[in-house]
Amino acid sequence: MDQVWSDHNAILAETEDQIQKGIQSKVDLVNKVTQHILSSGGKRIRPLLVIISAHLCNYLEKERIFLASAIVEFIHTATLLHDDVIDNAEVRRGISPARTLWGNQASILVGDYLYTLALGHAVRMDNFEINTLLSNACLRMAEGETLQLSHNRNVDLSEENYLEIIEYKTAMLISASCQLGGIIAKTSDEKKSALARFGKYIGMAFQVADDTLDYEADGHRLGKSLGEDLAEGKITLPLLHLLKHCKLEEKEWLHQIISSGGSSQADLKNVTALMHTYGSVAFSIQCAKGFSEKAKQALSVFSDSTHRDALMTIADYVVSRDH
Ligand code: IPE
Ligand code: IPE
Ligand code: MG
Ligand code: MG
Repeated sequence: MDQVWSDHNAILAETEDQIQKGIQSKVDLVNKVTQHILSSGGKRIRPLLVIISAHLCNYLEKERIFLASAIVEFIHTATLLHDDVIDNAEVRRGISPARTLWGNQASILVGDYLYTLALGHAVRMDNFEINTLLSNACLRMAEGETLQLSHNRNVDLSEENYLEIIEYKTAMLISASCQLGGIIAKTSDEKKSALARFGKYIGMAFQVADDTLDYEADGHRLGKSLGEDLAEGKITLPLLHLLKHCKLEEKEWLHQIISSGGSSQADLKNVTALMHTYGSVAFSIQCAKGFSEKAKQALSVFSDSTHRDALMTIADYVVSRDH
């Protein structure tokens, strides 16, 4: 994956300029919040997917690639500002999230600013298909986060419901990023839907991996606090697996923690240990790998190229990533 990042270093740096240029506001607080979150890092995986998908379809027109890449990063950044309010996050990208520095209201309002900015730029692309794609992705993301909220602390959540939540809240935008590359390249419907499928499955793998990292990662490297999902009552795949396979008394204890509205570091350690006993972490990683394989299969309509190889590498990376 390091090779893929370094091969795209220059073009990602130019995308970054586009992002900075496109974001200036007359309102000081808007600029403070956007500068804070945009300069705090972030992998820029969605812009990278736009770029590689466009290149895969033989499209090299930089201005439109930059604009499309900036749009998906604006949308993603907006969702992070909102998500950190919803999840009461204390850390984002290794530093204090905007909500703890300027408050929840500012975080929500600047998230709205970024959403609207993104849709404004999308309109400027003057392409009905792009507008439909992006408005649909935003709609589904909002539904996904709301569906997740409606199942908060629901220990009876099904795996099917969980998969629906992650498809909506995460995979839709990642899928849209890949499709965007194909749309601006005016590629065939067959190739556009292959890119959509590829993006959907790496998006599912990406979120399952994220949900596993929430229990497993090196918190410093991850740049987020561990155990946030348990503390917030989010029932994710490793926890679902554990609830299904543990002993009755362990299940009762888990229900108590989930419903109590908070968990201590000791609880988190015990839950993670149980997850290892019952293979819940391994199960989740296996599930993420399954999605990643499906994603790779979707690329079979494209002939062999360095760009296709780069997407294959990303499909592996989303599962093996550590942050
Ligand atoms: C975080 O996305 C939100 C999820 C969908 C899990 P990223 O992991 O892409 O966040 P950054 O942009 O790299 O910080
Ligand atoms: C992804 O879910 C949220 C979005 C799609 C915005 P999480 O809540 O798990 O993401 P992190 O862990 O806060 O980055
Ligand atoms: Mg969150
Ligand atoms: Mg998470």
